[in-house]
Amino acid sequence: MSNNNRTVLNVVAVSGGLNTPSKTESLVQNILDELSSAIDIQVHFVKLSEIGPLLGGAIYRHQLPERVQQDLEKIESADALIVGTPVYRASFTGLFKHLFDFVEQTALVDVPVLLAASGGSERHALVLEHQLRPLFSFFQAQTLPIGVYATDKDFTPQYTLQSEQLKQRITLAVARALPILEWAPAKGKRVSALAQTSKQANQNLGINTQIEQEGVLPSISVPDLSVAESRIHHKKPFVA
Ligand SMILES: Cc1cc2nc3c(=O)[nH]c(=O)nc-3n(C[C@H](O)[C@H](O)[C@H](O)COP(=O)(O)O)c2cc1C
Repeated sequence: MSNNNRTVLNVVAVSGGLNTPSKTESLVQNILDELSSAIDIQVHFVKLSEIGPLLGGAIYRHQLPERVQQDLEKIESADALIVGTPVYRASFTGLFKHLFDFVEQTALVDVPVLLAASGGSERHALVLEHQLRPLFSFFQAQTLPIGVYATDKDFTPQYTLQSEQLKQRITLAVARALPILEWAPAKGKRVSALAQTSKQANQNLGINTQIEQEGVLPSISVPDLSVAESRIHHKKPFVA
């Protein structure tokens, strides 16, 4: 997508925070603000504090209300994701995971994902590496090198950011993300191509069926590996 011949990155933010106000939402919003000061982005923000009650009772994707269906389609067609969650019992919130259990399993291949979390203390900072990164590795997403972790004391009572260190961490995370985001694979072309295919494929599948069924969706987002494979199988000897 382009605006005055400039590429606009289609960024979807997801916060697993269940409270309002939410430190996690504030953290994710600060990352979005930093990113938008550097590049043109179009943002869709999915907040579990808003859709959690609509999501919790659904086992099959077709049971989800239209609003959540649309959020899933936005996630599946994003050029890049910024995901944040509060730490609950040393992991992401259950509803954050439940949302991603509905995401079509090939839709995020190669999609850059910036990881963020907020916790009560620093003791669970590795939730980024031990919980969030493996989840998005399952999706074959491109998890960005630097994640952002905040604790309660990084926020004012109004949940704005007060920690200079945290602000610097956000700047660093965005700076390291920019070169990757700028050659994000599809840059806005994903939206129309993926949305319909994904919707059809998922509509009648339960979570388990989706995981177990092989080749359920020859997703347009999956790069054609034949070129890479042919290189591997016809490897030329290295000449010094
Ligand atoms: C049910 C529950 C479990 C929590 N478990 C942890 C935990 O294991 N480790 C931690 O550091 N903080 C834990 N916390 C604290 C929250 O992660 C922390 O306050 C977070 O910033 C809240 O984010 P929010 O304002 O977006 O809801 C827990 C909070 C709740 C309500």
